[in-house]
Amino acid sequence: MTDSFIIAIDGPAAAGKGTLSRRIAEQYGFHHLDTGLTYRATAKALIDAGLPLDDETVAEKMAREVELAGLDRDILSKHEIGEAASKIAVMPAVRRALVEAQRRFSGKAPGAVLDGRDIGTVVCPNAPVKLYVTASPEVRAKRRYDEIIGKGGSADFEAIFEDVKRRDDRDMKRADSPMKPAVDAHLLDTSEMSIEAAFQAAKSFIDAALSRN
Ligand code: DC
Repeated sequence: MTDSFIIAIDGPAAAGKGTLSRRIAEQYGFHHLDTGLTYRATAKALIDAGLPLDDETVAEKMAREVELAGLDRDILSKHEIGEAASKIAVMPAVRRALVEAQRRFSGKAPGAVLDGRDIGTVVCPNAPVKLYVTASPEVRAKRRYDEIIGKGGSADFEAIFEDVKRRDDRDMKRADSPMKPAVDAHLLDTSEMSIEAAFQAAKSFIDAALSRN
């Protein structure tokens, strides 16, 4: 159906999948879509328009209007937007709309890297390379904490840690497309692995799949 080589990267927030996805896309000259931004952009558009976050029909309509080009993590990074995104991400109609757009993106030649929660399981189940990037909740909370402090902000580690666990819970327990590794995904636990080591491991899986392609 398509000439595109798809790399599916899933896992929880702050496990390193964003950095890894960007490096992989750069290495292979592939397009990259951070699918979390599609949920965040939908949530922000609802908030900006003063619309409710619990009306599936309204949220679906907004999801269908989201433009994938030019999504900016800086604008969409606010905590409030992340929370709202995780709430609308439980709605099947919202997911259907965004998954359609994500699948269209995945067809871009010569290849596409998509990262999210359900890429290997739902969006691109036939992707020749699937990675599940994870790290312990403590390590992920510490990374968040360090990032905020590094930018000169103030942060409460315990509050961030609780937030990470609550978000994981919501993403893993939702009925539609819960976050989980595809059965054929390679697991990369970055708790004690540098991003460089994770990149090298990913590269060897990708090179092996490309040579079979
Ligand atoms: O990765 P992120 O924090 O930007 O994602 C925001 C929310 O969107 C998160 O709570 C889970 C949801 N999401 C999803 O359900 N499926 C995806 N493929 C990507 C993100």
